[in-house]
Amino acid sequence: MNESSALRKYILWFAYEHLDFRFQEIESIASLLNVDLTWIHKSAENPFWLVEVRSEEDVVKLTSRSVTLRYAIELWSSSSQREDFHDQLKSLPTAFTAPYFDENVSYKVKVEVFGSSQTQAEKVQRIESFSYLPLKGPVKLNNPDVSFQYIEYYGHDTVNIPCEPHHFYFGRIVSEGQRDLIKKLSLKSRKFIGNTSMDPQLSLIMANQALVKNGSLVYDPFVGSGSLLIGAAQFGGLVMGADLDYLMVHGMSRPTRKQARHKPRHEENILANMKQYGFAHRYVDVVVADFALPLWHDSFKLDAIITDPPYGVREAVERLGTAKEDKNISDRHLPTHIPCKIHYSMAQLLHDLLSFAAKHLRMGARLVTWIPVIRLEYDESQLPRHDCLRLIANSEQILSTNGSRRLLTYGKIGEPKEETRTIVEEEETYRQKYSRYIEENRKHKMEDDHKGKKFKNSTE
Ligand SMILES: C[S@@+](CC[C@H](N)C(=O)[O-])C[C@H]1O[C@@H](n2cnc3c(N)ncnc32)[C@H](O)[C@@H]1O
Repeated sequence: MNESSALRKYILWFAYEHLDFRFQEIESIASLLNVDLTWIHKSAENPFWLVEVRSEEDVVKLTSRSVTLRYAIELWSSSSQREDFHDQLKSLPTAFTAPYFDENVSYKVKVEVFGSSQTQAEKVQRIESFSYLPLKGPVKLNNPDVSFQYIEYYGHDTVNIPCEPHHFYFGRIVSEGQRDLIKKLSLKSRKFIGNTSMDPQLSLIMANQALVKNGSLVYDPFVGSGSLLIGAAQFGGLVMGADLDYLMVHGMSRPTRKQARHKPRHEENILANMKQYGFAHRYVDVVVADFALPLWHDSFKLDAIITDPPYGVREAVERLGTAKEDKNISDRHLPTHIPCKIHYSMAQLLHDLLSFAAKHLRMGARLVTWIPVIRLEYDESQLPRHDCLRLIANSEQILSTNGSRRLLTYGKIGEPKEETRTIVEEEETYRQKYSRYIEENRKHKMEDDHKGKKFKNSTE
């Protein structure tokens, strides 16, 4: 490895979950923070990807926002052959390594064996295999000046573990990703949750996909318990939402946690959550509203729409309306009238969502939303489309053998005109697909319940 390449190559070490979201998340952060990056190596299963960026500052920018990243590591050596790997390390230019090998610089060497295991003695042996490095400073396990990371990658087949690793990496840890936020925003300790609250990691990924930054005006038209607002507020978004469910918006719905059913109900609402995390100053408001009906002035513009619409799997898909022929309400009944609800078709909802985004997003701003799919039948060409929106990212979260949901990120590329088209599949196609999707989820849930496990929902 020559000096110039060593200075610019980094290992991005990702957490081994939500694998399909990693690339899109980093690409979005890079575009938000103006980081030029070139992918050198990225494979679907390997959590260690290699990138080239202009400066260390740029790689720190990536970790300052990413929740899929564990660490960014300056690459010192990388090879599939042990001997070649050590030769690369031995031949690093002194000018490059000297600042870290100084006697006044404390250090530690960390070891990661991915896809296999190691005893403490084996770990020490591995560290000692680097004794040729002229490290002169004191070893310090807590908060050293520099941390080196050695990685052996054995692949992900835990049954047939190879004798030798597939790959060896060594480098200097530059910065850490934002995985701590996942714990900080955990649903387990959140004051108010609903049964479709999004897990914090996905909420934060959605905020990254939506390019939320300080002062962005972010809207969730199907806000529920407001879990997506939390992710957006964490990154500085000014957040607002709407939902058809009056009780949910007013924090009067049935408590989701069984043990909380008999406790006093104050502090179970979206604002209480915002206060819990110190985001009250980023909370605009939430209102009760039917997405099928126009609510906002035409000139009202948003910096991001982040949402998880209802698909009829764990909640009804409804809109205000009546099937009655005589829609008049008598004066006598008017003061106590509660509006009826009718089915809100999937095709109509998606049509409305894309049209709403095209109208109310600022140019270049993003809509980030989910769509459920039957995996075998999935075909990207059938995703909803709009003339003024470009599909930027599309990542899959697998939920069961046959069912998954996809996180779609659209960017606004034009202002809607009269002839603008929104293309969604026929309602009949949706109906057939989603009744199968619901059936698949039901079967999966029953299998899980049978095994004594909880259905993998978003409430952790
Ligand atoms: C999947 S949930 C959203 C969950 C939410 N992300 C959370 O953090 O709890 C979908 C939400 O859409 C709401 N909804 C259903 N039909 C609606 C409509 N026509 N207009 C607005 N909201 C609606 C439901 O009440 C539900 O809260």
